[in-house]
Amino acid sequence: MRCNIVHPQAGELVYEIRRIVLLAKQMEAAGVSMTWENIGDPVAKGEQVPAWIVEHLEEVARENKSWAYGPSKGVDEARAFVARRNNARGGAQITPEDVCFYNGVGDAVSKLYSFLNRKARVLCPSPSYSIHATYEAYHTGKHPLLFHLDPANGWLPDIDEIRRLVDRNREVAAIMFINPDNPTGLVWPEELLRGLVQVAARYGLFLIADESYNRLVFNGKKSTLLSDLIGEVPGISLKGISKEYPWPSSRCGWMEIYNQDADPDFKRFVDSVFDAKMIEVCATTQVQMTIPQVMADARYDKHLETRCTAYAKRSEEFYEAFLGVEGVEAVRPNGAFLCSVIFDRGALNDRQSLPVENRAAKQILDQVLADGTVTPDKRFVLYLLAAIGICVVPMTGFTSKLPGFRTTLLEPDDSKRAWIFSTLREKIPEYLGSA
Ligand SMILES: Cc1ncc(COP(=O)(O)O)c(C=O)c1O
Repeated sequence: MRCNIVHPQAGELVYEIRRIVLLAKQMEAAGVSMTWENIGDPVAKGEQVPAWIVEHLEEVARENKSWAYGPSKGVDEARAFVARRNNARGGAQITPEDVCFYNGVGDAVSKLYSFLNRKARVLCPSPSYSIHATYEAYHTGKHPLLFHLDPANGWLPDIDEIRRLVDRNREVAAIMFINPDNPTGLVWPEELLRGLVQVAARYGLFLIADESYNRLVFNGKKSTLLSDLIGEVPGISLKGISKEYPWPSSRCGWMEIYNQDADPDFKRFVDSVFDAKMIEVCATTQVQMTIPQVMADARYDKHLETRCTAYAKRSEEFYEAFLGVEGVEAVRPNGAFLCSVIFDRGALNDRQSLPVENRAAKQILDQVLADGTVTPDKRFVLYLLAAIGICVVPMTGFTSKLPGFRTTLLEPDDSKRAWIFSTLREKIPEYLGSA
């Protein structure tokens, strides 16, 4: 090329949830039977979308206008429905103009960070679902700015650490959090959310809440939304239906903007994000048309309740499976359907292994390990792939230095799930004790 066409931050774009699949696929082709625990897709794991949701989609598909382009910010009825539903909670009030649809929350995330001033930083949790910190770092050309979720404290963050980081870094303009959280299953308690709002108010920041999993809360925890307690502080909530209907292939998510008029800079930023949407024409339209039908259907709440009851049972199984296992910590998730196991500091080394019977898989494994850059937790994950055929995601793939792995509560088959948890439980001491 006559000039350098590679973005200086091109190396920041790593998505371990799918990258690990490339290796797992090679091992599978080599004859290892694979169990996929890497991705948060309930449908791929066998959850059945209820027939009545499919019927709503069929009805929408019969409307000719559902095949047309829609308004740039999304179908009017869907935006009005989302705004009404938010307003009925009694917190920050919005109009349909504060709602904008995207091709999935992932798309909304990428747009959000692209239109921020390059010098403005967003403080993100560590660990966290990596797209936020990845896009933020890519956009600013710097390493992510992170606050910590602490596994020794039920994954709760320390609000004083957040305050200190904001105080020290004048370029921080926003704080992002995911509630319920991916990869930890943490449900943010109300008092911590209030603490975040106070920090934002004190320092003139806005808040970004990824609330993709807000209807998936269990074990007696309460789902508190950003809009419930944001008061006058500017903020953005990201919501979608990938996890909720669930319908990951719909590629449908949206932004809700709170208190646009509270700050002129925030308003100009939001306007620029919305202007950019017009250039793109519109997001997937047909699926937006199903939202008022599906979410207002009397069966919807019951459907979510049934799913949450199943996840609650599995969260207990997960917790029990790792209770008392030396060298690891596993916190019971109370939301989403994701859960993580963290190795004790110093527990992993590069001499540990599991016996790998499949010679071709061993060859693939040795090749990957040979370059010497594999993190200790990814090394464990790779051995698990080659020796057992369970595909989880290393925790260092979630913007974190904590060694561990993320798995899911999604396996619907009781005996298969019991096998997954008990095998993980068995293989951890075997791996740790092997050297
Ligand atoms: C916290 C979080 N946000 C966003 C997404 C992406 O959602 P979507 O399918 O709506 O793009 C995911 C997917 O796993 C997620 O876990």
